[in-house]
Amino acid sequence: MYQCPLCHLPLTLQQSQTSSPQQKNYTCAQRHQFDCAKEGYVNLLPVQHKKSREPGDNVEMMQARRQFLEAGHYQPLATKLLQMLAPTLPANATLLDIGCGEGWYTQQLRQIASTVYGLDISKAAIRYAAKKYPELQCCVASSYQLPFADDSVDAILRIYAPSAAAEMVRILKTGGVLCTVTPAPLHLVELKAQVYSDVRFHSDEVACEDGFTHITRERLQWQWQAPDAQTLTLLMDMIPLSYRLTPVMRERLCQQLPALSLDFYLDLYQRITPSA
Ligand SMILES: C[S@@+](CC[C@H](N)C(=O)[O-])C[C@H]1O[C@@H](n2cnc3c(N)ncnc32)[C@H](O)[C@@H]1O
Ligand SMILES: [Zn+2]
Repeated sequence: MYQCPLCHLPLTLQQSQTSSPQQKNYTCAQRHQFDCAKEGYVNLLPVQHKKSREPGDNVEMMQARRQFLEAGHYQPLATKLLQMLAPTLPANATLLDIGCGEGWYTQQLRQIASTVYGLDISKAAIRYAAKKYPELQCCVASSYQLPFADDSVDAILRIYAPSAAAEMVRILKTGGVLCTVTPAPLHLVELKAQVYSDVRFHSDEVACEDGFTHITRERLQWQWQAPDAQTLTLLMDMIPLSYRLTPVMRERLCQQLPALSLDFYLDLYQRITPSA
């Protein structure tokens, strides 16, 4: 399944000849070698593809998201995703979660697919995902250079993560699907109102993904009531708006504990079959 991020030849899993007997690595025919970490993930992000020292979400954001998700506050979204994706999958499906973070949604995909890959550019997030969910196949890699063979994946999930359409088309099998989750117009509008006098709503346009046909869109909305200031702080720490929420705004919100609008679009796309 994995292909070499440097020369694009297939990678095969091997026991290391040189180091400890447990050490495994992935190697290609050109002898590029990628060690498996003790947590079970493989780092397929070559240094020359890194744009910063620690790309992706930082540890603080990852930990806040992890605690928040594990408490089940976004379970309706995960459940809806499974309902939407399950009917599109063949038996023994292979699924890839792009920008999987610490793997909370990724793990749930095991209910509908026999092999689930989680990919993220953040090493901290992948280390956690691999350790907590050993049944996932986890790799550190960039969504712009997916380290997977052509026509090898039945479905891709992308929740709030960047991606390159051409790469997703390349690795999807014929008829394969892409499921995306993006913020819908009213998502966290109450938090935005703290920061901006002129609140801009998220777009309601369906993004055109090159090489895909849009199949369906579902909107999932609910009012979320923070149980306490600590949980609201976790939510504020895990979102991009976090940098704009000043200590005064945070304090006010934690005292008020307002109900917040959660609003998501779930879109399903199918890979267009290239004409012969
Ligand atoms: C907002 S988080 C969403 C994480 C997870 N999907 C979730 O909803 O809990 C976006 C994720 O995309 C990852 N990411 C950002 N740029 C990326 C890239 N070029 N390739 C792969 N992952 C990337 C970040 O590290 C982060 O984990
Ligand atoms: Zn290679």
